[in-house]
Amino acid sequence: MLNFSFVNPTHIHFGEQQISTLAVNIPLDAKVLVVYGGGSIKSNGIYEQVASALEKHVWGEFAGVEPNPSYQTCMKAVELVKAHNYDFILAVGGGSVIDGCKFIAAAACFEGEPWEILSKGAPVESALPIGVVLTLPATGSESNSFSVVSNLQSNDKLPFATPLVQPKFAILDPNVMTTLPTRQLANGVVDAFVHTMEQYLTYPVDAKVQDRFAEGLLMTLMEEGPKVFAKDAPYAVKANIMWSATMALNGLIGAGVPQDWSTHMIGHELTAVYGLDHAQTLAIVLPRMMMEQKEAKREKLLQYAQRVLNLDMSDEDAAIKQAIEKTEAFFHSVQMPTRLRDYGLGEEVADKIVAQLERHGMVALGEHQAVTLEKSRSILLQCV
Ligand code: NZQ
Ligand code: ZN
Repeated sequence: MLNFSFVNPTHIHFGEQQISTLAVNIPLDAKVLVVYGGGSIKSNGIYEQVASALEKHVWGEFAGVEPNPSYQTCMKAVELVKAHNYDFILAVGGGSVIDGCKFIAAAACFEGEPWEILSKGAPVESALPIGVVLTLPATGSESNSFSVVSNLQSNDKLPFATPLVQPKFAILDPNVMTTLPTRQLANGVVDAFVHTMEQYLTYPVDAKVQDRFAEGLLMTLMEEGPKVFAKDAPYAVKANIMWSATMALNGLIGAGVPQDWSTHMIGHELTAVYGLDHAQTLAIVLPRMMMEQKEAKREKLLQYAQRVLNLDMSDEDAAIKQAIEKTEAFFHSVQMPTRLRDYGLGEEVADKIVAQLERHGMVALGEHQAVTLEKSRSILLQCV
């Protein structure tokens, strides 16, 4: 096992009716800016629950953080924060709203041009406190310190990370999933699955706890994922998916193990250039990445085939091939397409995305830095 330091300071409040705990989770003397997206919270009752819980607080709101939050929109919220001296940010939404709030919280305290936090890794020295009401289980952003923000003018979709933007608390009520459209449910299951794979499917370091936690998450997502689309999906199905998504990227399974993230880095460029949803890009890239890296990942692929998929291991090469096919079939089982052509895209994608990767210095990705630009090109061509 590799050395690691681990802390996850986000206080999770999980279950039905937990939104009402906002009343006590945010200090009464805070001036709260409630930030949300395109308005789904207004039609599904979450806004009312938040407003009622904040009855005794002083608060205002900022609406319109878009999927793949933009720097341009976030900066409008920063202006509002500064103009009205808000000192607490409450994110009510999915990964995009939460990531947007992380950037807003950092940018509001930043001296200089906040875009440089993303473009140049300019250090963040302080940030406003953030709380979260999660409405879409997928990214894990509700209890981690990462954020990904897009610049609409330059086609950049760039990450930053600092413990200063880790949410103080996150409220996870699985009932919020009732109004999620099929596409977003699929996005959530696939994103959580691929987060787990990026931290599991590398090479063995004898990290038995992390491996078995990761295997538990993969198995849970495969078992419960296909059930969540039914109109009357049980609460337990939603709860298990929601908790899996949080656990997949809260630092626990990634502590002390090598990590990959090459699928994500290529995926971010696909979103920046072609506007595909984040998880849609992952479902396209991951099976091809597994195939391209099958020798480097051989031992973990075999472990995955045996322990997660319960495959016949008498012919190892056949088991690996089947494991990759089963992964892609799982994506289909949660109504997620896995090819560029499903979105009307073809071979032209390869040059464009490789140029983006090069521009962003993503020239040696993965746990062995073995995914060169040439390999990325080959993977993208196989994605057609
Ligand atoms: O805008 P609203 O009205 O909120 O509608 C959203 C949005 O249109 C809708 N939605 C959310 N909750 C709903 C709902 N609709 C009905 N009922 C509900 N309860 O769903 C749509 C998509 O929301 P979004 O927040 O964009 O989805 P997701 O949670 O998948 O977040 C994706 C973003 O997170 C980033 C991605 O790159 C992408 O920008 N990621 C963040 C990570 C992190 N911070 O750790 C890691 C991930 O790998 C990822 O990169
Ligand atoms: Zn992701």
